[in-house]
Amino acid sequence: MAITIRIFKNADDAGIYVASIAEMVIRQQQHPVLGLATGSTPIPFYKALVNLYDCGLDLSHVTTVNLDEYVGLSGDHPQSYRYFMQEQLFSKTNLHQQNTHVPNGVAEDLDQECHRYDQILQKHTIDFQILGIGLNGHIGFNEPSDTLLAKTHVVHLKEATVKSNARFFESIDQVPNQAITMGVQAILQAKKIVLMAFGEEKASIIEQVILGDVSTNIPASILQLHQDIHFVLDIASASKLLANEKAKKTLGLKVR
Ligand code: F6R
Repeated sequence: MAITIRIFKNADDAGIYVASIAEMVIRQQQHPVLGLATGSTPIPFYKALVNLYDCGLDLSHVTTVNLDEYVGLSGDHPQSYRYFMQEQLFSKTNLHQQNTHVPNGVAEDLDQECHRYDQILQKHTIDFQILGIGLNGHIGFNEPSDTLLAKTHVVHLKEATVKSNARFFESIDQVPNQAITMGVQAILQAKKIVLMAFGEEKASIIEQVILGDVSTNIPASILQLHQDIHFVLDIASASKLLANEKAKKTLGLKVR
Protein backbone atom coordinates (compact mmCIF):
# COMPACT_ATOMS: atom_id res chain seq x y z
CA MET A 1 0.00 0.00 0.00
CA ALA A 2 1.16 3.50 -0.73
CA ILE A 3 -0.22 6.74 -2.06
CA THR A 4 -3.39 6.45 -4.11
CA ILE A 5 -4.59 9.44 -6.11
CA ARG A 6 -8.08 9.65 -7.61
CA ILE A 7 -9.08 12.61 -9.73
CA PHE A 8 -12.80 13.22 -10.28
CA LYS A 9 -14.66 15.53 -12.62
CA ASN A 10 -16.35 17.19 -9.66
CA ALA A 11 -16.61 17.20 -5.87
CA ASP A 12 -20.00 15.44 -5.82
CA ASP A 13 -18.61 12.38 -7.63
CA ALA A 14 -15.62 12.42 -5.30
CA GLY A 15 -17.94 12.56 -2.27
CA ILE A 16 -19.83 9.48 -3.47
CA TYR A 17 -16.54 7.60 -3.93
CA VAL A 18 -15.31 8.48 -0.42
CA ALA A 19 -18.68 7.57 1.10
CA SER A 20 -18.45 4.15 -0.53
CA ILE A 21 -15.02 3.62 1.09
CA ALA A 22 -16.58 4.67 4.41
CA GLU A 23 -19.39 2.16 3.87
CA MET A 24 -16.85 -0.63 3.40
CA VAL A 25 -15.11 0.29 6.67
CA ILE A 26 -18.44 0.62 8.50
CA ARG A 27 -19.61 -2.79 7.33
CA GLN A 28 -16.30 -4.57 7.92
CA GLN A 29 -15.70 -3.43 11.49
CA GLN A 30 -17.67 -4.38 14.55
CA HIS A 31 -17.01 -0.99 16.18
CA PRO A 32 -15.90 1.32 13.36
CA VAL A 33 -14.35 4.66 14.24
CA LEU A 34 -14.52 7.50 11.71
CA GLY A 35 -12.28 10.55 12.07
CA LEU A 36 -14.19 13.53 10.69
CA ALA A 37 -13.43 17.00 9.35
CA THR A 38 -15.47 20.15 8.86
CA GLY A 39 -15.28 23.01 6.33
CA SER A 40 -16.54 23.11 2.74
CA THR A 41 -14.55 20.17 1.42
CA PRO A 42 -16.25 17.22 3.16
CA ILE A 43 -19.83 18.44 2.52
CA PRO A 44 -20.34 16.29 -0.64
CA PHE A 45 -19.03 13.30 1.34
CA TYR A 46 -21.52 13.88 4.16
CA LYS A 47 -24.34 14.26 1.62
CA ALA A 48 -23.39 10.95 0.04
CA LEU A 49 -23.08 9.22 3.41
CA VAL A 50 -26.53 10.47 4.47
CA ASN A 51 -27.79 9.15 1.12
CA LEU A 52 -26.33 5.74 1.88
CA TYR A 53 -27.99 5.85 5.31
CA ASP A 54 -31.30 6.67 3.60
CA CYS A 55 -30.72 3.61 1.41
CA GLY A 56 -30.22 1.31 4.40
CA LEU A 57 -26.65 1.73 5.72
CA ASP A 58 -26.68 1.35 9.52
CA LEU A 59 -24.54 3.79 11.50
CA SER A 60 -25.77 2.88 14.97
CA HIS A 61 -22.53 1.07 15.85
CA VAL A 62 -20.23 3.85 14.54
CA THR A 63 -18.12 6.13 16.75
CA THR A 64 -16.95 9.46 15.35
CA VAL A 65 -14.12 11.73 16.49
CA ASN A 66 -13.76 15.17 14.96
CA LEU A 67 -10.45 16.84 14.28
CA ASP A 68 -11.05 20.19 15.88
CA GLU A 69 -13.24 22.89 17.40
CA TYR A 70 -12.97 26.64 17.83
CA VAL A 71 -12.11 27.87 21.32
CA GLY A 72 -14.93 30.01 22.70
CA LEU A 73 -17.77 28.57 20.60
CA SER A 74 -20.23 26.23 22.28
CA GLY A 75 -21.83 23.35 20.41
CA ASP A 76 -25.05 25.30 19.80
CA HIS A 77 -23.22 28.21 18.12
CA PRO A 78 -24.02 28.03 14.36
CA GLN A 79 -20.33 28.43 13.42
CA SER A 80 -19.09 25.79 15.84
CA TYR A 81 -17.88 22.52 14.39
CA ARG A 82 -20.21 20.52 16.65
CA TYR A 83 -23.14 22.44 15.14
CA PHE A 84 -21.80 21.84 11.61
CA MET A 85 -21.59 18.10 12.27
CA GLN A 86 -25.12 18.03 13.73
CA GLU A 87 -26.43 19.76 10.61
CA GLN A 88 -24.47 17.80 8.02
CA LEU A 89 -24.50 14.30 9.46
CA PHE A 90 -25.38 13.53 13.07
CA SER A 91 -29.02 14.66 13.05
CA LYS A 92 -29.67 13.04 9.67
CA THR A 93 -28.57 9.50 10.54
CA ASN A 94 -28.90 6.95 13.32
CA LEU A 95 -25.49 7.77 14.79
CA HIS A 96 -25.85 7.79 18.59
CA GLN A 97 -25.14 11.22 20.03
CA GLN A 98 -23.02 9.72 22.81
CA ASN A 99 -20.77 8.10 20.18
CA THR A 100 -19.99 11.43 18.49
CA HIS A 101 -16.95 13.29 19.83
CA VAL A 102 -15.94 16.87 19.11
CA PRO A 103 -13.60 18.82 21.41
CA ASN A 104 -15.45 21.16 23.78
CA GLY A 105 -14.43 24.70 22.79
CA VAL A 106 -15.92 26.22 25.93
CA ALA A 107 -14.32 23.88 28.46
CA GLU A 108 -13.20 25.84 31.55
CA ASP A 109 -9.84 24.12 31.60
CA LEU A 110 -8.61 23.73 28.01
CA ASP A 111 -5.55 21.63 28.95
CA GLN A 112 -7.82 19.25 30.78
CA GLU A 113 -10.11 19.15 27.74
CA CYS A 114 -7.16 18.26 25.47
CA HIS A 115 -6.23 15.48 27.87
CA ARG A 116 -9.83 14.21 27.95
CA TYR A 117 -9.88 14.18 24.13
CA ASP A 118 -6.62 12.23 23.94
CA GLN A 119 -8.12 9.63 26.24
CA ILE A 120 -11.08 9.27 23.87
CA LEU A 121 -8.64 8.91 20.95
CA GLN A 122 -6.64 6.33 22.82
CA LYS A 123 -9.76 4.28 23.40
CA HIS A 124 -10.96 4.66 19.79
CA THR A 125 -8.21 4.19 17.22
CA ILE A 126 -9.46 5.71 13.99
CA ASP A 127 -10.27 3.24 11.22
CA PHE A 128 -10.97 5.83 8.56
CA GLN A 129 -9.85 9.47 8.72
CA ILE A 130 -11.31 12.18 6.48
CA LEU A 131 -9.16 15.27 5.96
CA GLY A 132 -9.46 18.57 4.15
CA ILE A 133 -6.41 20.76 3.69
CA GLY A 134 -5.79 24.42 4.42
CA LEU A 135 -4.27 26.65 1.75
CA ASN A 136 -1.12 26.65 3.90
CA GLY A 137 -1.08 22.86 4.15
CA HIS A 138 -2.63 22.51 7.60
CA ILE A 139 -4.46 19.32 8.52
CA GLY A 140 -6.91 19.59 11.38
CA PHE A 141 -5.56 22.83 12.79
CA ASN A 142 -1.97 21.61 12.83
CA GLU A 143 -0.54 24.78 11.33
CA PRO A 144 2.83 25.15 9.56
CA SER A 145 5.60 25.48 12.13
CA ASP A 146 9.12 24.31 12.95
CA THR A 147 7.58 21.54 15.02
CA LEU A 148 4.36 19.55 14.95
CA LEU A 149 2.65 18.40 18.14
CA ALA A 150 1.66 14.79 18.58
CA LYS A 151 -1.17 15.26 21.07
CA THR A 152 -4.40 17.24 21.15
CA HIS A 153 -3.56 20.87 21.87
CA VAL A 154 -4.74 24.46 21.78
CA VAL A 155 -3.47 26.27 18.71
CA HIS A 156 -3.30 29.93 17.72
CA LEU A 157 -4.66 30.03 14.20
CA LYS A 158 -2.47 31.60 11.55
CA GLU A 159 -3.69 34.85 10.04
CA ALA A 160 -4.21 33.10 6.69
CA THR A 161 -6.46 30.50 8.33
CA VAL A 162 -8.55 33.14 10.15
CA LYS A 163 -8.90 35.05 6.85
CA SER A 164 -9.86 31.95 4.92
CA ASN A 165 -12.45 30.89 7.52
CA ALA A 166 -13.97 34.38 7.72
CA ARG A 167 -16.24 33.33 4.83
CA PHE A 168 -18.33 31.34 7.31
CA PHE A 169 -18.78 34.30 9.70
CA GLU A 170 -20.47 37.70 9.39
CA SER A 171 -17.17 39.50 9.84
CA ILE A 172 -13.52 38.54 10.33
CA ASP A 173 -13.57 39.88 13.93
CA GLN A 174 -15.98 37.10 14.83
CA VAL A 175 -13.58 34.33 13.77
CA PRO A 176 -12.00 32.80 16.88
CA ASN A 177 -8.20 32.90 16.72
CA GLN A 178 -7.74 29.79 18.80
CA ALA A 179 -8.85 26.22 18.34
CA ILE A 180 -8.44 22.82 19.93
CA THR A 181 -7.03 20.34 17.45
CA MET A 182 -6.14 16.70 17.38
CA GLY A 183 -2.37 16.34 17.05
CA VAL A 184 -0.62 14.50 14.26
CA GLN A 185 -0.26 11.27 16.23
CA ALA A 186 -3.95 10.32 16.19
CA ILE A 187 -4.17 11.30 12.51
CA LEU A 188 -1.17 9.18 11.51
CA GLN A 189 -2.40 6.27 13.61
CA ALA A 190 -5.59 6.11 11.54
CA LYS A 191 -5.62 2.88 9.58
CA LYS A 192 -6.81 4.53 6.38
CA ILE A 193 -6.75 8.23 5.47
CA VAL A 194 -8.50 10.14 2.69
CA LEU A 195 -7.49 13.73 2.08
CA MET A 196 -9.95 15.55 -0.16
CA ALA A 197 -9.19 18.81 -1.94
CA PHE A 198 -11.36 20.62 -4.47
CA GLY A 199 -10.93 23.79 -6.48
CA GLU A 200 -8.18 25.66 -8.24
CA GLU A 201 -6.98 27.45 -5.10
CA LYS A 202 -5.82 24.10 -3.65
CA ALA A 203 -3.78 23.11 -6.74
CA SER A 204 -0.51 24.59 -5.57
CA ILE A 205 -0.57 23.15 -2.04
CA ILE A 206 -1.63 19.75 -3.39
CA GLU A 207 1.36 19.75 -5.74
CA GLN A 208 3.71 20.60 -2.85
CA VAL A 209 2.16 18.02 -0.51
CA ILE A 210 2.44 15.18 -3.01
CA LEU A 211 5.65 16.03 -4.86
CA GLY A 212 7.58 18.05 -2.29
CA ASP A 213 9.72 17.05 0.67
CA VAL A 214 8.18 16.06 3.97
CA SER A 215 8.30 19.20 6.09
CA THR A 216 6.58 20.49 9.23
CA ASN A 217 6.14 23.74 7.32
CA ILE A 218 3.66 21.88 5.14
CA PRO A 219 1.96 19.68 7.74
CA ALA A 220 0.01 17.59 5.20
CA SER A 221 3.29 16.45 3.64
CA ILE A 222 3.74 14.03 6.58
CA LEU A 223 0.92 12.01 5.02
CA GLN A 224 3.51 10.79 2.50
CA LEU A 225 4.75 8.62 5.38
CA HIS A 226 1.39 6.91 5.91
CA GLN A 227 0.91 3.41 4.58
CA ASP A 228 -2.68 3.81 3.34
CA ILE A 229 -3.20 7.37 2.18
CA HIS A 230 -5.63 8.41 -0.58
CA PHE A 231 -5.76 11.85 -2.17
CA VAL A 232 -9.19 12.45 -3.65
CA LEU A 233 -9.12 15.47 -5.92
CA ASP A 234 -11.09 17.22 -8.62
CA ILE A 235 -9.55 18.28 -11.91
CA ALA A 236 -9.02 21.84 -10.64
CA SER A 237 -7.11 20.87 -7.48
CA ALA A 238 -5.10 18.32 -9.48
CA SER A 239 -4.34 20.78 -12.28
CA LYS A 240 -0.70 21.39 -11.30
CA LEU A 241 -0.03 17.66 -10.96
CA LEU A 242 -1.66 17.03 -14.33
CA ALA A 243 0.42 19.77 -15.96
CA ASN A 244 3.62 18.11 -14.75
CA GLU A 245 4.42 15.35 -17.27
CA LYS A 246 7.03 13.72 -15.04
CA ALA A 247 4.68 13.60 -12.06
CA LYS A 248 1.89 12.28 -14.26
CA LYS A 249 4.10 9.41 -15.33
CA THR A 250 5.57 8.52 -11.94
CA LEU A 251 2.22 8.80 -10.16
CA GLY A 252 0.37 7.04 -12.97
CA LEU A 253 -2.23 9.82 -13.17
CA LYS A 254 -5.00 9.39 -15.72
CA VAL A 255 -8.08 11.43 -16.39
CA ARG A 256 -10.16 10.35 -19.35
C1 F6R B 1 -11.65 21.32 9.57
C2 F6R B 1 -10.21 21.18 9.41
C3 F6R B 1 -9.43 22.01 8.44
C4 F6R B 1 -10.08 22.08 7.04
C5 F6R B 1 -9.27 22.97 6.12
C6 F6R B 1 -9.93 23.11 4.76
O1 F6R B 1 -12.13 20.40 10.52
O2 F6R B 1 -9.66 20.40 10.08
O3 F6R B 1 -8.14 21.47 8.32
O4 F6R B 1 -10.18 20.79 6.51
O5 F6R B 1 -9.13 24.23 6.69
O6 F6R B 1 -11.13 23.80 4.87
P1 F6R B 1 -12.14 23.90 3.65
O7 F6R B 1 -12.63 22.53 3.40
O8 F6R B 1 -13.26 24.80 4.15
O9 F6R B 1 -11.37 24.46 2.52
